[in-house]
Amino acid sequence: PPMAKYVDDLTVPGVIQSSPTTPIDIVARSTKARFHRDQPRVPAMAYNDEDYLGPTIEAHVDEQTTIHYRSALGTHTFAADLDTSLHGVQDSYRLRPPTSMHLHGGATPPEYDGHPEKLMLPHQGTQLFKFPNRQEAGHLWYHDHAMAITRANVYAGLAGMYFLRDGFDTGRPDNPLGLPAGEHEVPLILQEKIFAADGRQSLRSTPVVPEGHWEGGAVGDRGLVNGKVWPKMRVDRGLYRFRVINAASFSVWRLFFSNKMRFWVIGNEGGLLDAPVSTRSILVSPAERFDILVDFSSLAPGQTVDLCNDLAPPTQAAILGEVAMPRFCRFIAGAGKGHRGGVPSRLRGGRNQPAALPPVATPQRTRTVTLSQPYALRIPPAIMTMNNLRYADPQIEKPREGTIERWDIVNITPDPHPVHLHLVMFRVLGRRPLRTVDYQAAHPQPPVGTRWAPDPSGFYAGPMRPPAAWERGWKDTVHAIAGHVTSIIVRWPTADELGFDPDALFSSDPTKNWTKPSGGRAAARPPATHGHQSAHAAERELQGYVWHCHILDHEDHDMMLRYRLLPS
Ligand code: C2O
Ligand code: CU
Repeated sequence: PPMAKYVDDLTVPGVIQSSPTTPIDIVARSTKARFHRDQPRVPAMAYNDEDYLGPTIEAHVDEQTTIHYRSALGTHTFAADLDTSLHGVQDSYRLRPPTSMHLHGGATPPEYDGHPEKLMLPHQGTQLFKFPNRQEAGHLWYHDHAMAITRANVYAGLAGMYFLRDGFDTGRPDNPLGLPAGEHEVPLILQEKIFAADGRQSLRSTPVVPEGHWEGGAVGDRGLVNGKVWPKMRVDRGLYRFRVINAASFSVWRLFFSNKMRFWVIGNEGGLLDAPVSTRSILVSPAERFDILVDFSSLAPGQTVDLCNDLAPPTQAAILGEVAMPRFCRFIAGAGKGHRGGVPSRLRGGRNQPAALPPVATPQRTRTVTLSQPYALRIPPAIMTMNNLRYADPQIEKPREGTIERWDIVNITPDPHPVHLHLVMFRVLGRRPLRTVDYQAAHPQPPVGTRWAPDPSGFYAGPMRPPAAWERGWKDTVHAIAGHVTSIIVRWPTADELGFDPDALFSSDPTKNWTKPSGGRAAARPPATHGHQSAHAAERELQGYVWHCHILDHEDHDMMLRYRLLPS
């Protein structure tokens, strides 16, 4: 459908201030959203009063946020696209979609982590969430995480921002770091979408895959910011702080401004960098967040600058016949002078600043994990795997509290995968090119279901490249590029540091038991899929956290595994 560029005003989601004494009600609803001036209102999903996406939650470090979550969803926005061959997805989900709300980036007790199997149906009651916020200030977000339909629920609109503040990054104009605040601090929730001829959102990006089957990647040809297609924003001629997130399902973008101006990255997912990093572009893969400062003071009133992307979507999309490179939004300089404090020279380690980032720690052990695509591009039965396993397979990772691990993420696919670990923030060590053909020839990959993560040493094609200066802070998602080994350093927290038991056994405490929506009985389990055991494993296997590719299509099938953090 035709959509003129830069005609809608950029809008910003409403803000809810978290307080330690008052619970926040979050309700998932079916809505009608207008994504563009020239288009009708079309079905979507949202939290609370928004038409699309959810309100921004402003929380404070060390002050618990309590959420009462319920779902009032009606028929699923993408009822025809749910794939019932995946992980117990049932036909009834089209009319009554289950959800599971997750705080991405949160150090959250397992029972409140929005586990993909902890599903709740519409009008099935209220779920309690307690987020301790016992971690550094940063840019978190909350979104739906329901097993094997996450891509559909998030694309429909179930996502919102969650800013964790502290005494330095207060979000107020008088903050000690001198950062733009108030109307000069703006979330930019970037997404891509396809629209059908009638203006509805479409999850279907290729005619190759029959309707009702998992597609592998919902690429889009329209760029959205905060739920509007190609919006415009009038800006003061001063400094802005943009809280940027790639909240799309699939594509990695290289973001830059149309006039090639410099901007400054000041933070990653888990908080601030030591000092602003000047750059002309950044790579942003799904779920990565960048805190950036942009200076519009050199623009003349009326002058415009566009936020652009020049990275084509991954190979997979190109092969399937989808090539799209969405632009995002236009900034139009107004007459106002805005925030004029200038770019701070330091953000950490100075007086009245948070402590400097610690050096990247030395690991005590190395864990190799793999990303692969065993049945190539036939859909079905294509599957995306980590460690050659399906979600329900029992050979899960079991790190120990208090230990420092290096994870070598071996990506033998032709596409990038943003790898996300729940519960922790980590650091990027670097990326090293791999001779993937030789690696695979030396270590033949067994059938899916047997853990396969051979040591890549001996197969490198060059030295390790350090991370970009703008990805050296605390991260919860890393862009694992194709044909490379991407290494991260994780220090697993202890129960004492967390303030809760990360390996709590849910089933031993009936008040924490999970209610399975299928059949309405608490003990019911989704049926096994692919002839493998599904969630029938021992109760203890149901607990814990997940780690996964944040391409939502991949996480649904099957690039998501569980892990347990065991006592030291
Ligand atoms: Cu953004 Cu496991 O999620
Ligand atoms: Cu992936």
